[in-house]
Formats: sequence, structure tokens, C-alpha cells
Amino acid sequence: MKKIAILTSGGDGSGLNACIRASVRQAIQRGAEVYGVRWGYRGLINGEIDPLDSRDVGGLMGKGGTFLGTARCPEFKDIKVRRTALRQLNQREIEGLIVVGGNGSLAGAAALHEMGFPVIGIPASIDNDVSGTDMSVGVDTTLGTILDAIDRIKDTASSHQRAFLIEVMGRNCGYLALASGVAGGAEAILIPEHEGPSLEQISQTVVDAYVRGKQHCIIVIAEGWKPGTQAVADYLLGQKEDLGFDVRVTVLGYVQRGGRPSIFDRLLATRMGAWAANQLLDGESGMMTALRGSKLELFPLSEAVKELRPLDLGLLTLSDVMD
Ligand code: ADP
Ligand code: F6P
Repeated sequence: MKKIAILTSGGDGSGLNACIRASVRQAIQRGAEVYGVRWGYRGLINGEIDPLDSRDVGGLMGKGGTFLGTARCPEFKDIKVRRTALRQLNQREIEGLIVVGGNGSLAGAAALHEMGFPVIGIPASIDNDVSGTDMSVGVDTTLGTILDAIDRIKDTASSHQRAFLIEVMGRNCGYLALASGVAGGAEAILIPEHEGPSLEQISQTVVDAYVRGKQHCIIVIAEGWKPGTQAVADYLLGQKEDLGFDVRVTVLGYVQRGGRPSIFDRLLATRMGAWAANQLLDGESGMMTALRGSKLELFPLSEAVKELRPLDLGLLTLSDVMD
């Protein structure tokens, strides 16, 4: 294999640029030509595919986002549309593709592999919901951002004796809420994977924290948790007189997706990016680079996209002990 391409797809996050840089440089070092596809699968369909050299990926290691651009492209689920994409690659004599993205993007990669085109995936999603890998690229940086926000909110919460509801991203996965809630010392963590406390019990947690003399009460809520942050806020505000703490809500939002990648993400992205290029050039396909313990392993894309990565709910118990 002498010509390969790389694209980033789905929700962005930190470390995508480091991945691209590593794949490009590793492939070039092995004598291959590398092409960058703009705007994920949309650019693949439209033929927005340009050669990349080592200098094109210079200075990217510390930059958030993705310089190739990314997109959601629902029409890629249609096999006819994917045929158009393969035609674009074949016309340029590109023989293999690296897809960097989350569950949806990796499902697209698996579909291309099933159509006979060589593909290697790199799991990259702030949600950490991709099965088969301990960590996806971008997760660690996002956790750092959330932790920084929780620490800041604790300062003001303590000064005013307030309870804060902090909503974090994660789509249908509670990983970000669970990990940041434990690391941030939250009094309660609400995630979709666990049926969790009723509104009455949440209110009781706030009262208990007040009665025990805490200066603040932090509740971290995953955006995918039902009935949702606003329902908790409405319920608590309805009990205002009895709570002790006043209540405020912070939805962290897209600040969680940007910023300079952490050391962990730079290393993970560099290792996975280079390894993906090597695997593709060695003739491997239909696989994803996966971090298992401290080692990189190949994991089948078809397995990775079957279900969301299971959470370690033992962390919730640990969080209760720390209360
Ligand atoms: P992420 O990759 O971050 O999980 P999405 O779920 O939005 O983000 O998926 C990104 C893109 O992957 C979609 O917009 C679509 O182009 C492609 N995709 C998602 N699911 C499939 C699928 N089942 N088959 C083919 N392509 C898919
Ligand atoms: O999958 C990453 C993610 O940031 C989720 O946590 C969030 O629900 C979603 O993407 C937001 O998507 P969009 O950028 O399309 O608004």
C-alpha cells in the first residue's frame, strides 16, 4: 500500500490534530503518500481530498479541534452514498483510510471495511463511550477542563453556601460525569447508566450536606440523565425554604470540547496515530486501535460499535463512601 488518506468525523475534541500529525509522519517515514480529507465523510463524498506532507502537520500537536475539519453526515449511512465516497478514493488511487472519531464515525469505518475498502479506526470522542478501548482520544483533556470548572465553582459555592448542579456532556454515556464527579468530590453524581436517586432523595442529599456542616453541595449531572438537570433545579427551588443551601445551575457546554490537549491525550494520539498508519500499511483492516491497560491492541470495529462502553459503577459506590 503506497497511498492512504485520513479524516476526522463526528464531534471534535482535543488530540485530533496530534493523531493526524502522527499518522501522516509515520506513513511518510515508511515511504507512503498521505491525503487529508476535509470535513469528515461529507468531504469524502464531495472529493475534498488533498495531499499532506510533513510540514502541513507542523505545529499541530498542541492545538485543539481538527485542522481538517469535521462534520456530521447522516447520508453516509446510505450505501449508495458510501459508494460515491469509495469512487472518490479509487479515482485518486488511494488504497486505505484512517478514520478518527467516535461511535458513529467508527460505524461508518466498519461499513467501508465491509464494502472491501481497507480501513483502520482511531477512537476519538470526549464521551469515552467507545467499547474495546480504556480511553478514547480527547477524554483526558475534557476531564481536565471539567475538573477545573468544578474547582472554580466550589470556590464560589463555598463563599455563598450554595448547592450547584453542574451539567456535563457525554451524550448517552455517564463517563464524564462519573469520573469528574469522583475526582471533583461531588456530593452526588447522576448518570444514565444508574437508576439513581429520586428527586426527593437528591433533595435529602442537599439537606444532609447542609446539616453536616458542608460549605457547599456539588451535584454533577450527565446530560443524558433523565429527567434532566432542569427537573432537579425546579424541584430543589420548590423546596428552597427547607434546603439550607441556595441553588444554582451551570451547564458547562462546548467549553468541554476545545483547548490544548493534555499530555495524556498528546501521547495517546501520537501512539494511536502512528500505529494506525503502520497497521494500515501492513495490510490490516476493519480494526480500531485500542488502549488496553498501557498497551495498544487491535480491536474489531464491528465489535466496538455494537454497544456503548460499559461503565465501572464501582466508582459510584466509592463516591458515596467519600461523602
Ligand atoms: P461520533 O463519531 O462522534 O460518534 P456521530 O454519531 O454523529 O459522531 O457520527 C459521525 C458520522 O458518522 C455521522 O454523521 C455519519 O456520517 C457517520 N455514521 C454514523 N453512524 C453510521 C452508520 N451506522 N453507518 C455509516 N456511517 C455512520
Ligand atoms: O459526542 C461528543 C458530544 O460533545 C456529546 O458529548 C454531545 O452530546 C454532542 O457531541 C454534541 O453534539 P453537537 O456538536 O452536534 O452539538
